[in-house]
Amino acid sequence: MALVIRVGPARQQWWLDHMQALLPEIECRPWDDPGDPNEIAYAIVWKPPPGGLKRFPNLKCIVSMGSGIDHVTNDPELPRHVPIIRTTAFDLTQRMREYVTLHVLRIHRRLPEIEAAQPFREWRQLINPPAYRRRVGIMGLGNLGADCARTLKAVGFDVAGWARRPKAIEGITCFAGDDQRRPFLERTEILVCLLPLTPETRGILNAELFRTLPEGASVINCARGGHLVDQDLLDALDRGHLAYATLDVFHQEPLPAEHPFWDHPKVLVTPHVASLIDPEAGGKAIADNLRRFIAGKPVPDLVDLEQGY
Ligand SMILES: NC(=O)c1ccc[n+]([C@@H]2O[C@H](COP(=O)([O-])OP(=O)(O)OC[C@H]3O[C@@H](n4cnc5c(N)ncnc54)[C@H](OP(=O)(O)O)[C@@H]3O)[C@@H](O)[C@H]2O)c1
Repeated sequence: MALVIRVGPARQQWWLDHMQALLPEIECRPWDDPGDPNEIAYAIVWKPPPGGLKRFPNLKCIVSMGSGIDHVTNDPELPRHVPIIRTTAFDLTQRMREYVTLHVLRIHRRLPEIEAAQPFREWRQLINPPAYRRRVGIMGLGNLGADCARTLKAVGFDVAGWARRPKAIEGITCFAGDDQRRPFLERTEILVCLLPLTPETRGILNAELFRTLPEGASVINCARGGHLVDQDLLDALDRGHLAYATLDVFHQEPLPAEHPFWDHPKVLVTPHVASLIDPEAGGKAIADNLRRFIAGKPVPDLVDLEQGY
């Protein structure tokens, strides 16, 4: 019994050594040199190439090196019967909490305008409402969204969230389902997208959604590039309906050098760094999940493939 690991070449050997130390009972092999494919029972992957996983006929489980699974399920040749475990290590939540708080505060305190004034030695005293009068909305109230909602509430913001099913989170106004999407958006001045990428959520950040947000609203997308219709965002910013956008994820990554987001004055591009998996904490979470799976115990991070996330 063996497992293969697929990550970027720079980190491959580190992950192999680390996972081997955490799972000494299973032989860990590199994706590009997996030996006899019949021996591979487990695959730990980030963005596996299409058709790559079907090479292993005895695969029992696929582990996504991240909380999203779209980078696995978008493979048209994926062996659909194989269970998928996602990775939700505590440090992923910590890092996303930092990213979202930083960028909500940056927009709330109009830092882009202050930074733009500095080269001109312009003393710009902008008046902000206090956080309790700033309405933030989080799309997706899962592991990451609910944690960010609580953190922003603790900072003082007026926070609402939107999910598929109704939720009760203390201090957060929760909206659910398509029927409640409009009232959620209408009250949202800073929108944070933390949805999984599914057929229902692909392209959800589009012209119609931007029109529903109040004038002067801003958008932070730290979920997936596929949620956003790029041109609709550019139009909404250029019309002045939206104030700012902070984008961490893109249809194509790295974002191509010629993409208009790079030099748009109202867009901040961050290079998919909101919450990268940490090999220490992430590796431990992966090893714990795999051990539970192999022992036939319940695995909380096992993905509901019917639901799609
Ligand atoms: N930029 C980065 O560095 C980075 C890092 C990690 C993750 N991410 C992204 O963040 C996403 C969220 O992660 P997570 O761990 O919080 O996911 P999660 O625990 O699966 O939560 C997903 C949330 O989205 C809601 N949702 C799903 N489909 C919906 C729909 N059609 N309409 C309304 N709500 C819907 C779910 O509603 P229910 O609660 O009702 O099911 C749930 O609240 C990941 O999928 C990934 O794409 C990005």
